[in-house]
Amino acid sequence: MSNQIARSADRLKVDVYVDEHGMLESMPEEVRIGLTASPKRLAPKYFYDEAGSLLFEKITELPEYYPTRAERDLLHDISAELMADLRPQQIVELGSGSSYKTRQLLSAPSAPEHLETYVPFDVSESIVQEASEELVSEYPYLSVHGVIGDFGRHLGHIPAATGRRLVLFLGGTIGNLDPIERVAFLRQVSELLGPEDRLLIGMDLVKDISTIEAAYNDSAGVTAAFNRNMLHFLNRSLSGDFNPEAFEHRCFFNQAESRIEMHLVPKTPQIVTLADLDMSVTFTPEDSLWTECSYKFTEESLTEMLADSGLSLEHFYTNDDPARLFGLALVGPID
Ligand code: SAH
Ligand code: TRP
Repeated sequence: MSNQIARSADRLKVDVYVDEHGMLESMPEEVRIGLTASPKRLAPKYFYDEAGSLLFEKITELPEYYPTRAERDLLHDISAELMADLRPQQIVELGSGSSYKTRQLLSAPSAPEHLETYVPFDVSESIVQEASEELVSEYPYLSVHGVIGDFGRHLGHIPAATGRRLVLFLGGTIGNLDPIERVAFLRQVSELLGPEDRLLIGMDLVKDISTIEAAYNDSAGVTAAFNRNMLHFLNRSLSGDFNPEAFEHRCFFNQAESRIEMHLVPKTPQIVTLADLDMSVTFTPEDSLWTECSYKFTEESLTEMLADSGLSLEHFYTNDDPARLFGLALVGPID
């Protein structure tokens, strides 16, 4: 195409592996298992329909929610050097959401010389569509090839790279997987990495409990609405009759496990029917729904996770001013 810059629409493509309700093929079975387990549990991917993604964007702007700002500041500080050193041809981002912080990397001075394709991968279609359209118009040098699917099942659909690949897993989403899940996940991700490829993992760090708990119990009630959105998603996708307002948002730091736990607890017993599953479930204040964990890391727990996953740490970046809030681990395959 020599001197000509391709029109933005020609540089944009999105592949979709969820149905028109935003539902994954695995959802009926996973919800049935989760709601008959003890305690009742569902995966955090069921927060993120269109409304859930918008609520998450509001969370990232809350005064109490420090991780997004801390991670953006870190990326701002390291992106020029990181990109100039690695010179990736492709950036894949798992759980990309709005790709807001990714712009720090896409804007690095060296990027137009080597970066060709950005692959946002997320379960939530609307937010990736919107972000991708913005990105092709903001970055005339860039092609965007989105993938809408479950990063636990659809990594095989990521387009091949013709040069070096940088995989991003930002936002502390690694902490939303439990220790066994995240090692299994990182082992799968490591299969995407050739010897020269790298993975950048963002993680929230252990710090004083009040700072952590405030981030998930904001005074405006946005996190509570986000938590309840999972019930709206279930109502719509599986013909359910949850009354979301009958459930309270309960969120606290479990110090022994180094994790935030988020639950939905009914004020009074609730019998809920999911017609598509031909299933009724009773929730009580003692037998409620556990919707999410958000693990907080130390250098020790990071080292252990990487050792178990067959990855080697190249650099660990953290904010230091005013506090050690968030970390970014640059890792590669063990050679
Ligand atoms: N990376 C963004 C968004 C983090 S929120 C940031 O740092 O702000 C977590 C993101 O992961 C959401 O966009 C959500 O839709 C996505 N997500 C959660 N579980 C997923 C799964 N199993 N497969 C693909 N995407 C998932
Ligand atoms: N990865 C984010 C985190 O663990 C996701 C998140 C932010 C979140 N705020 C939330 C999940 C509130 C549930 C509720 O911090």
